Amino acid sequence: MSVHKNVKKVTTHTLQEMKQAGEKISMLTGYDFSMARIIDAAGIDVILVGDSASNVMAGHETTLPITLDQMIYHASSVVRAINRALIVVDMPFGSYQGNSKEALSSAIRIMKESGGHAVKMEGGQEILESIKRILTAGIPVMGHLGLTPQSIYKFGTYVVRAKEEEEATRLIEDAKALEEAGCFAIVLEKIPASLAEKVAKMVSIPIIGIGAGNGVDGQVLVVHDMLGINNEFSPRFLRKYNNLHEQMMNSFQEYIKDVKSGDFPNESEQY
Ligand code: KIV
Repeated sequence: MSVHKNVKKVTTHTLQEMKQAGEKISMLTGYDFSMARIIDAAGIDVILVGDSASNVMAGHETTLPITLDQMIYHASSVVRAINRALIVVDMPFGSYQGNSKEALSSAIRIMKESGGHAVKMEGGQEILESIKRILTAGIPVMGHLGLTPQSIYKFGTYVVRAKEEEEATRLIEDAKALEEAGCFAIVLEKIPASLAEKVAKMVSIPIIGIGAGNGVDGQVLVVHDMLGINNEFSPRFLRKYNNLHEQMMNSFQEYIKDVKSGDFPNESEQY
């Protein structure tokens, strides 16, 4: 029997068991009640309330503008929808980089006010003190290395990270440091598949990839991207499971046509 099918509620321990059993972990982003309800009912293991809400929900160009209050709003909507999945909430830019005291108080606000189960933070050794302080308070932390979108202005572009040996070595050291500190999992974003596989074999905690190949312990995608809602975003790593942009466009246009023509509502659609 698979670990996945056997659990009523996914916990950080479930993910550890899945890694040990060689069972892949499924993770998708979620930002609102209605979508999260469907994702959870479908049987997803982890819902990430990602700061990508800044892009897909609010239309910002980067993840930097989203605030702690806005992340808590999205996370609490998701929490109300979920029966089974583990809910991880992104700590937004500016809520943890200052110092470890500030980081802890941001993490506590997320846990208290949203009801999420864990937080995710971008970065390695440079934020280790904050990660340790949050873990000491009993809050599970997921790390995030490789392409870290909150640092986009430092990187300059969204191209693949850690192709050069120096950056790859640093990433490996960061992953080991996060594991040692007590993180329960790490997201690796947009790095060479061979490097991601090496890290997944090197550490005992689950490695969840996005644009990091198939040699890791699980995968995450932004839900709007995999549903094809945004037809302007098609990176190589993205598999589209639907073309909702086209389907929604057709539905909206048909509705407009029916209203304009007087076809809607008909007799059976009125009181
Ligand atoms: O915010 C987000 O959606 C993420 C995923 C891309 C991992 O961090």
